[in-house]
Amino acid sequence: MAKNWISLPRVEGTASRQAHVNLPPGTFEREMGKEGFFGPATHMYHRHPPTGWVEFEGPLKPRAFDTVQLKGGESGPWSAELMLHNAHLQFRLWRQPKAMDHLVRNADGDELLFIHEGAGDLYCDYGRLAFRDGDYIMLPRSTMWRIEPSAPVTALLIEATNDSFRLPDKGILGEHAIFDPAMLDTPAMDAAFRAQQTEDAWAVRVKRRGQISTITYPFNPLDATGWKGNLAPVKINWRDIRPVLSARYHVPPSAHSTFVASRFVVCTFVPRPFETDPAALKVPFFHNNDDYDEVLFYHQGNFFSRDNIHAGMITLHPCGFTHGPHPKALKHAFASAKPETDEVAVMLDARDALEIAPAAASVENAAYVRSWLTPQAKAAE
Ligand SMILES: [Fe+2]
Repeated sequence: MAKNWISLPRVEGTASRQAHVNLPPGTFEREMGKEGFFGPATHMYHRHPPTGWVEFEGPLKPRAFDTVQLKGGESGPWSAELMLHNAHLQFRLWRQPKAMDHLVRNADGDELLFIHEGAGDLYCDYGRLAFRDGDYIMLPRSTMWRIEPSAPVTALLIEATNDSFRLPDKGILGEHAIFDPAMLDTPAMDAAFRAQQTEDAWAVRVKRRGQISTITYPFNPLDATGWKGNLAPVKINWRDIRPVLSARYHVPPSAHSTFVASRFVVCTFVPRPFETDPAALKVPFFHNNDDYDEVLFYHQGNFFSRDNIHAGMITLHPCGFTHGPHPKALKHAFASAKPETDEVAVMLDARDALEIAPAAASVENAAYVRSWLTPQAKAAE
């Protein structure tokens, strides 16, 4: 059990003593915090919504990208469109309508797939793994693999550059909370896997330092007869995630962490009941998250705290940009219209600033910053 010294937060003026609960009447709470909801933080109680601006200029603004409009890149994962990146991660959008005619191997880092649409089989060094929409598949660095879709696939590819994906520390919740590690599926050396072990020539496209090398074999190199060890691809579906929640407290996004790398974290928002305590906030609190760039990919459902967002969109809220519920959602801050959320979204929080790649810029919704304007501010324009 970790032992921390008791810290003594100061309270100044009119403020709530318990974050996200019992806000002083007529105030809007904003969290200014370090280390992505884990570090020291202060809650500020404002008279106006912290996103109540009427003008926003300069590069800090929030961004939104519509991947539904992206075309092309259908000849394997190395043709996938790079969307956002920094020295520690690559975030790509991949469409693969039919079976790959080659194998790939990522020598730059572990790769995490999130299947947004489609289904099929993944064949890799370790065997066959069937997949469907909503699956995460984590492929250890240098695994050889290919997919055979049974329905056209749209997937996120998240590379932990020169790094590994791990599971988050679940702390006092214990090992079996959120999802039991026993729920992780691994590939099987089954009849379908053995049936593809032919003497036909196969090319392996290896990515290393962003460059592709091609190794050609006169046989299928996915030819293992078995394996043993504690390193293997793993699969988990969002439907198997049992989110942490509290009836009396809006838990921060960090409680929804699914995979962690050294310089970023991947979280999953899945349906859950809203808080029921009348004094507890029902929507995300306003926050700066001052150390992280925040990316959200909207998979399915009704994105309860956002306006003008549909499935397949990506938003980027850069470090230092104060955000929270959109004006429409704010009405439900203490009285939710529905008993539970039905959104499914993948969040990526990066400790280092993200660059926007040309493909993302080509499908940007430049008006996204305006979606935060209140109806009054819009009317005044
Ligand atoms: Fe955020």
